[in-house]
Amino acid sequence: MKKQEKSWQSRMAQEQDELAVDFVESISVDHRLYKYDIAGSIAHAQMLSEQKLLSKEEFQQIRQGLTEIAEAIDEGRFKFDKKYEDIHMVIEAALIQKIGEAGKKLHTGRSRNDQVALDMRLWMRDQIHFMVGWIAGLQKALVTLAQKQGQTILPGYTHMQRAQPVLAGHYLLAFAEQLQRDKERFVDLADRVNICPLGSGAIAGSSLPLNRRRTAELLGFPAITRNSIDSISDRDFCAEFVFAAAMTAMHLSRLAEDWILYASQEFGFIRIGDAFCTGSSMMPQKKNPDLLELIRGKCGQLYGNLVALLTMLKGQPLAYNRDMQEDKKQLFDAADTMEASLRMAAAIVEHTQFNPGRIERDLEDGFLDATALAEYLVRKGIPFRQAHQMVGTLVSECEREDFTLSETPLEQFRKVCDKIDKDVYDHLGAEKVVAAYAVEGSAGVKQLQEQLAFWQRELKQD
Ligand code: ARG
Repeated sequence: MKKQEKSWQSRMAQEQDELAVDFVESISVDHRLYKYDIAGSIAHAQMLSEQKLLSKEEFQQIRQGLTEIAEAIDEGRFKFDKKYEDIHMVIEAALIQKIGEAGKKLHTGRSRNDQVALDMRLWMRDQIHFMVGWIAGLQKALVTLAQKQGQTILPGYTHMQRAQPVLAGHYLLAFAEQLQRDKERFVDLADRVNICPLGSGAIAGSSLPLNRRRTAELLGFPAITRNSIDSISDRDFCAEFVFAAAMTAMHLSRLAEDWILYASQEFGFIRIGDAFCTGSSMMPQKKNPDLLELIRGKCGQLYGNLVALLTMLKGQPLAYNRDMQEDKKQLFDAADTMEASLRMAAAIVEHTQFNPGRIERDLEDGFLDATALAEYLVRKGIPFRQAHQMVGTLVSECEREDFTLSETPLEQFRKVCDKIDKDVYDHLGAEKVVAAYAVEGSAGVKQLQEQLAFWQRELKQD
């Protein structure tokens, strides 16, 4: 007599090969869905009892049994036996063992296909909430630093060459903007996730009088899916989640890259707290930004998760195929990596200071005020293209003679353009440039105040 341990065993003439057991199992990965699986099962059972497909007593037994199983898992007393394949079957088997006959009715009108789709959506609903919180935590750290040291003037770079002066606060809040879009992507995804697939069964729904809307309501879903085939084969939301995470990781890696440079001897713009740096096993003087490097490096992991997930989905015939079981590895890994990176990034930002003295020392290098001078000429009525050329000439003269634009004598300015007056000096030097930015969204003093006020309001809600 073959053993009937698995729910589908009776169909098979032989017991499953050991190698196959190991290969097919997903408990080692999907055990973390247990809370959602149990919540889904309790709601399903309640609906079944309201629809008279279960008696009230049976529902009570099921609910009690599942609650006890959840407690046992919480407390680490539950044995996850991989021969039951996945979290759905291991819990069902434990329930049947605990309460007998009533447990065998739980799976009425349900398949693991709609069950797993439900569990993933429930998990993701929570995960989006956490993700948004971690991103907001990093934004808050950036805003706090922008409040504390935002008035420091930094050289802004394009092509990694000095471009125009920007306030440190403005620079920091650029990251807050990127992160805001990252948050929005998650929040926007939440609407597509928050739809209940339960009742779609294996592929075609059910002939039993299930009340899908009731189950959805019990689980706090505002809507149910329209098409059973799509419900159980759709993993778009998983790919979207990993994409949103990968985009966030990309933003973190850009911040990391900047700060690795800025913390170097060559830049010296920032100092990262010692508790967030590492030393070298050989060179005693080293203080390394390894944590930022890891944040930058982990971005590759997220891209890998995304490509793995999209490739796994590609070419699958409708509807469910076991390929999809591989989605969880990518999702959980993406979520865990982002939790670690976002929390680490926030802590680093909280323990970083700008080095105003050091930044100021070289601030007048690199002609950060050249564009401002061209704009001064525009205000004197010179067409911008011509003004651009004139300043280009002046810059190359300065470079040759090794002085800055604000050190250039008036006669030398006048040789290039007789419209230049001594008021030109009111427009030169990084500090004057930053004070003169006039356009909304510029890198200047007034605009920073506006942005800080915006972020204070915005982040209060998170
Ligand atoms: N562990 C499976 C998964 O994650 C659950 C669904 C299994 N369905 C099936 N028909 N074998 O996708």
